[in-house]
Amino acid sequence: MAYTIAVIGTGSEPENPGSDGYAMAYRHAEAYESIEDCELVACADLVRANAEAFADEFSVGQDRIFEDYSAMLETVEPDIVSVCVPPAVHDSIVIDCVRSGVVDAVHCEKPMDDTYGGARQMVEEADRYDVQVTFNHQRRFSDPVRRAKELLDEGEIGDLERIEFSAPIGIFDYGSHSFDLCNYFNDEAATEWVMAQVDYREENVQFGAHNENQALVCWEYENGVHGFGTSDATGDGGPAGAVGCHNRLIGTDGTIEVGPAGDDDLPSLRIRRAGDEDWTAVDTEGGLHGWELVERAIDDVVDALETGDESELGAGNALNATELIFAAWESSRRRGRVDLPLEIEDNPLEAMVESGQLQPEPAEEE
Ligand SMILES: NC(=O)c1ccc[n+]([C@@H]2O[C@H](COP(=O)([O-])OP(=O)(O)OC[C@H]3O[C@@H](n4cnc5c(N)ncnc54)[C@H](O)[C@@H]3O)[C@@H](O)[C@H]2O)c1
Repeated sequence: MAYTIAVIGTGSEPENPGSDGYAMAYRHAEAYESIEDCELVACADLVRANAEAFADEFSVGQDRIFEDYSAMLETVEPDIVSVCVPPAVHDSIVIDCVRSGVVDAVHCEKPMDDTYGGARQMVEEADRYDVQVTFNHQRRFSDPVRRAKELLDEGEIGDLERIEFSAPIGIFDYGSHSFDLCNYFNDEAATEWVMAQVDYREENVQFGAHNENQALVCWEYENGVHGFGTSDATGDGGPAGAVGCHNRLIGTDGTIEVGPAGDDDLPSLRIRRAGDEDWTAVDTEGGLHGWELVERAIDDVVDALETGDESELGAGNALNATELIFAAWESSRRRGRVDLPLEIEDNPLEAMVESGQLQPEPAEEE
């Protein structure tokens, strides 16, 4: 089966990634290029110069460059659309693709959306129109994460009791990956409650959306496993130091650490079984980061479309992670525990900024 691919939101400057733009579309395009059955045929960007540079790089025809993505959908009728625009417009663009009636699959960048209502609506519309919708939580496909899950499933640390994470940047931007990994380790169990607090004293806007400076989040899954996560965008330690590794899995008979922090010589994965005096490094081929993970994610997306199997990047799993992000901010807004399912539509952090409840100082110019 051959698939035609189109991209919405090409970005610019892929060689200069940063929070003002990573041009993730280039990473998606490279991934599709490596799959024999996929042909990149069109692109759309509000900024025509961005779309033209992208088209030039990936040999997209001049008559297949669009500023208006709706015109692109109508003219090209692509099988798969990659959506690489900022989070605030993920929901409207993904939903337009889903409702277009011409697209079989949409692969959208994380975080799902800048409101919980928008994220939930994407899942509802994907179900209603029977279109495969996935989100790019590519860190699931890293070797340390895969190997950690194998060790857990093989019973190497006994029964899982607690999962931890520390995230740079914030629980929305980076935390979307962090919560997604926690849910992956705990087999996508549903969550019963979330309790959190945030500190937001200096503006931290990433890809157009607010992120707190520091956060502490506790939650409990319905299967009794507890979660504890921290974010720290200040770069000077703070609560994130309380966890001190990318993810920690604590079991009845030992502990696994993915991405332990503190020393460059530490391995990407290590285990300490009950009774061990010290950690044992676990060999893994690659690390937690790298664009090859986007290739693995997109392989999974195309494979799911071909086989009809559910991709693990599917909208349902993504919503599980997104619910934890917004429940954490909602807990801070309510000053209390939030019992799930989460029944809000908005973005509590943004609402608290708009109401003046939180008053972050303008960020210092870099
Ligand atoms: N998976 C990851 O690890 C990872 C890493 C970085 C960024 N991201 C995410 O990728 C997404 C995109 O980020 P980026 O850094 O690639 O952005 P970018 O700024 O590099 O590119 C976004 C492009 O979208 C275009 N655009 C905006 N609104 C549009 C619209 N309505 N129609 C058409 N084009 C539109 C802009 O003109 C811009 O060219 C964000 O959600 C971000 O959080 C994910």
